[in-house]
Amino acid sequence: MVVLGIESTCDETGIGIVANGRKLILNLVSSSANLQNNYGGVVPEVAAREQVKVIVPLLKEANNKYPFEKLDAIAVANGPGLIGSLLIGVESAKTLSLVFNLPLIAVNHLTGHIFGTFVDANKLPTYPFISLVVSGGHTDLLLVNGPDNIRFLGGTLDDAAGEAFDKVAKMLGLSYPGGPQIENAAEGFLSVRDVKFPRPMISSPDFNFSFSGLKTYVFDFLANVSENKKTAGLVAKEFQEAVCDVLVSKTIKAAKLYDVKTVIVCGGVAANRRLRERFYLEKVNNLFEIIFPKKEFSVDNGAMIAACGFYTRDTVDPLKLQANPSLHY
Ligand code: KG4
Ligand code: ZN
Repeated sequence: MVVLGIESTCDETGIGIVANGRKLILNLVSSSANLQNNYGGVVPEVAAREQVKVIVPLLKEANNKYPFEKLDAIAVANGPGLIGSLLIGVESAKTLSLVFNLPLIAVNHLTGHIFGTFVDANKLPTYPFISLVVSGGHTDLLLVNGPDNIRFLGGTLDDAAGEAFDKVAKMLGLSYPGGPQIENAAEGFLSVRDVKFPRPMISSPDFNFSFSGLKTYVFDFLANVSENKKTAGLVAKEFQEAVCDVLVSKTIKAAKLYDVKTVIVCGGVAANRRLRERFYLEKVNNLFEIIFPKKEFSVDNGAMIAACGFYTRDTVDPLKLQANPSLHY
């Protein structure tokens, strides 16, 4: 079964085609990050205007490479996300479904991140598994019993981890998106001495997170610290370490409590090399299998939506599907 996936929930426009939820046929992604960089973050109107411009050329390119007559279904992320951006993907998918007479599958963007891990994977995970979905808008811990049986264990009470990366990068004068910039600045800095940022909620008895206070802590640190410690490398390294400590600790706690053998870490922040390394160390120590998507399927893309559509098969009426900015699992 070959599925076309459309992703337009935030500032990316992604068109992916995947066979049987696993074999990548194509993955085209266009991002407005360069434009957003002028504003230091995503301006929804700028994102949507750019997506209106690029979606038809991207679909044409996909159709040239893999004629849509050969497809079996169309999947689209109909939430959560920015309403203007969502509408562009959802309306395009509805139109294609009617024109090519193909079933339309609605996909939750966050569930899409989980199944992006299956694309081009050597082997598939067995259920149940714990998934940490860590992106620009979400930091969720989930118990995944099956494609249609996902239990929310906890999430951020304020900012998502990715948002904190972006905001701290902005404080340091680094460009948007901030995650890769923080990662690079941290790698170039050798050691952090005498500086310890808080690890918010690391010992709380639940599976919730909070990153807003850490962000404010960094802001105050930069305002008050002596000049010799005010380096982007030091702040980036200690901030990244604080976020990794919290994410790794809570995810492993969930894996132990629910006695799963597999942990999937996905979403844009899962592209972070240090986070991958930290989880890898846990795998070596505790014998969990820790799985990450390929890096191109960590950040937003259409292939993950196509893969997810294959597994969930939530077929909907193309005349009725609505974009839903606050869609839940
Ligand atoms: O999943 P995603 O592409 O979009 C949303 O669904 O939000 O995630 C985007 C987020 C941004 O906050 C970006 O800074 C972060 O993922 N990100 C990273 C890295 N690459 C992207 N954060 C840390 N390290 C990275 N290498
Ligand atoms: Zn995402």
